[in-house]
Amino acid sequence: MDRGNQVPVIRISEPQKLPSLLKMPGIGTSATKRRLKQTFIRLLLNIYHRSMMRPRKVKILDKTFIVLPGTFSPVWTLTSRFLALNLDVREGEKVLDVGTGCGVQAIFAADVASEVVATDINPIACECARINALINGVFPKMDVRQGDLFEPVGGDEKFDLIIFSPPYLDGEPRDMLERSWMCGKGHDVIRRFFREARRYLREGGRVRMVYSTIADTDILLQILERYRWDWRVVARKKYPLEEIFVLEARPYEG
Ligand SMILES: C[S@@+](CC[C@H](N)C(=O)[O-])C[C@H]1O[C@@H](n2cnc3c(N)ncnc32)[C@H](O)[C@@H]1O
Repeated sequence: MDRGNQVPVIRISEPQKLPSLLKMPGIGTSATKRRLKQTFIRLLLNIYHRSMMRPRKVKILDKTFIVLPGTFSPVWTLTSRFLALNLDVREGEKVLDVGTGCGVQAIFAADVASEVVATDINPIACECARINALINGVFPKMDVRQGDLFEPVGGDEKFDLIIFSPPYLDGEPRDMLERSWMCGKGHDVIRRFFREARRYLREGGRVRMVYSTIADTDILLQILERYRWDWRVVARKKYPLEEIFVLEARPYEG
């Protein structure tokens, strides 16, 4: 799926390695600036999500979604829509969407994929994703399972593409809702994701993940290296406070 022409996304003709991307002027943030920005974003995320008392109907590109209170809203933040535009799902592929939230990525993927499995640790998010799969007519193709990362996926199940829009703010989540944006000490959720994901990929399979320069890019690089992932940045977009980008990662041996 490629809806890239609908927004002014900077497409990289020659995909770049993350270190070279971070050396470009204006990208990469000092630790202090990053902490300040993260505190501010965390506050806004909490205010916005906790003031949501009833389900909301939102539009992402050409699709409508219901967002239940207690789940991550894909409209208020920049990353959900950007990743949905850059999934690059191919006809007939089997796709896994980890941390599906209200199901945005899984539902866009299901337009093209033959089968989509979506997981989320938050039971309300799973309910929400099922409702949205029904509304968007992809319920028969989509299997939503509640649990931690790959826990709800069978040991023998393998995918062509694993999608991840992770929580990436530093620190421990205080409750289930905060798991949507807080990734735990030492980037726990992202670390475990890259430690385990290769087991669930078919030969030649890939991960597409969205990330931001508001988050700790050094730790992401360490994780990718530690768990032997080759990666490139396939799309990026600059905003006043941050630059967001989509990584494509493939496991390598050695
Ligand atoms: C940033 S939101 C992204 C939601 C959705 N994929 C999107 O693009 O809008 C992160 C999601 O990951 C889920 N999550 C966080 N930690 C998780 C874990 N350990 N296992 C599964 N899902 C997790 C959260 O509940 C939340 O729904």
